[in-house]
Amino acid sequence: MAFVVGEDCIKCKHTDCVEVCPVDCFYEGPNFLVIHPDECIDCALCEPECPIDAIYSEDELPADQENFRELNAELAEVWPNITEKKMPCQTTRIGKESPTN
Ligand code: SF4
Ligand code: F3S
Repeated sequence: MAFVVGEDCIKCKHTDCVEVCPVDCFYEGPNFLVIHPDECIDCALCEPECPIDAIYSEDELPADQENFRELNAELAEVWPNITEKKMPCQTTRIGKESPTN
């Protein structure tokens, strides 16, 4: 099992979550972050850190966000690792990305 970043992270990217992850398994795309399910050790530290509650335990994912389980797994293979907090909402100001890329 793993934790999953859900849709509320899109265009938000507070990045508080990456600071607490003991195994550095967050990966950053242009408009949201994902968790690598094979690297996540299910410690649950990141979940309360997200100010907008965008992180879910895999088995508590809302039904309308089930596709994020797959998205996290796929995108964590291609997006670069992120281990340090950044300014949030950078992509909101740029505003060019579509919700899923
Ligand atoms: Fe990292 Fe723990 Fe969150 Fe998994 S549950 S992403 S290991 S902080
Ligand atoms: Fe996204 Fe929340 Fe982390 S908004 S970047 S999951 S702290």
